[in-house]
Amino acid sequence: MVDYNVNGKVAVVTGGSRGLGLYCAETLALNGASAVVITSRKAKACEEAKQYLEKVTREAGKSCKIISLPADITVEEECNKFYEDTAKAVGGKVDILIANAGASWGAPLEDHDVSAVKKVLNLNVVAVFHTIKLFAPLLEKSGTKEDASRILIMSSIASINVNDPVGTYGYLASKAGVSHLGKNLAIQFGPKNINVNSLAPGFFPTKMSNGLLEVAGPLMIETNPKGRLGVKEDIQAATLFLCAKESNYINGIVLPIDGGAHLNPPASKF
Ligand SMILES: NC(=O)c1ccc[n+]([C@@H]2O[C@H](COP(=O)([O-])OP(=O)(O)OC[C@H]3O[C@@H](n4cnc5c(N)ncnc54)[C@H](OP(=O)(O)O)[C@@H]3O)[C@@H](O)[C@H]2O)c1
Repeated sequence: MVDYNVNGKVAVVTGGSRGLGLYCAETLALNGASAVVITSRKAKACEEAKQYLEKVTREAGKSCKIISLPADITVEEECNKFYEDTAKAVGGKVDILIANAGASWGAPLEDHDVSAVKKVLNLNVVAVFHTIKLFAPLLEKSGTKEDASRILIMSSIASINVNDPVGTYGYLASKAGVSHLGKNLAIQFGPKNINVNSLAPGFFPTKMSNGLLEVAGPLMIETNPKGRLGVKEDIQAATLFLCAKESNYINGIVLPIDGGAHLNPPASKF
C-alpha cells in the first residue's frame, strides 16, 4: 500500500482563497501538512478560506495550522512583504510552493487592449517568477536528496493547445511562458533539491472559467474523451502525488489534467 502524504510539510499556496488553489490547499492540509499559508488580494475571502480549511481538517481529525496573509502579489512590495510575513509565521521553513494565482482575459484582437495583456502577464508570469525567486532559498534549505522541496506552477492545457477561439492572447502566452520557465527551473533547481513541475488543467468550473463554460461547456464535455469537466479530486490527486516523497524523481514535467481533451481540442468545432 502506498500512503501518499505530505506529513510535516509547510506549504504556501498563492491564490489559495478559492478555485484550484483552494483545492490544493485542502489536499495538503488533509494529508499531513503541518502548516498551509494562503494568499489572495481579498482579506475577507482569505479569512473565509482559512475558516473552511480549519473546519475540514478538524472534521477529518487532522491538525494543520492555516495561515492567511492577504496580498496582491503583482505589487512588488506586497509580494516581498508576503514572503517576509510568511517566513516569520512559519519560522523560515517552507517545503512546498504552489504558484497558482492567475487570471484570464479574452476579446477579439481588434478589441483587445495591450493593457489587458500586460495585466495577465504581470500576474501569470511576473508574479510567478517573483514568488519563486523569493521562496527559493527557503525551499533549498528544506529539500533533501531523498525528498526534494517542491514547486508546482499552475499552468494550463492552454500552454499545450493551439487554436484559441476566444482571443485569450495574454493568457496563452503566459501559460506557455510559465510551463517553459518551470522546465528551465527544474534543471537549475534539481541539484539544489527543489523539484519544479507544472500542472496543466483542462477546464474546471471556477470563478475564472465560468463565463467561458456558460458558452462552451456542453461542447467541451461532448468532445472530452472522458465526457466531463474537471473536478476537485482531479487537481487534488495530482497535487498530492507531485508533492509526496514518492514522486521525488519527477522533475520538469507539464502534467495535463484534462481527461485527454488536449488530444481532441473543441476549438476547431466552434
Ligand atoms: N479553472 C480552470 O479551468 C483552469 C484551467 C487551467 C488553469 N487554471 C489556472 O489555475 C489557477 C487558478 O485559477 P482558478 O480557475 O482557480 O481561478 P479563480 O477561481 O479566479 O482563482 C484565482 C485565485 O487567484 C487569486 N488572485 C488573483 N489575482 C491575484 C493577485 N494579484 N494577487 C494574489 N492573488 C490573486 C484570487 O483571489 P483574489 O481575487 O482575492 O485576489 C483567487 O484566489 C490560475 O493560474 C489559472 O490560470 C485554471
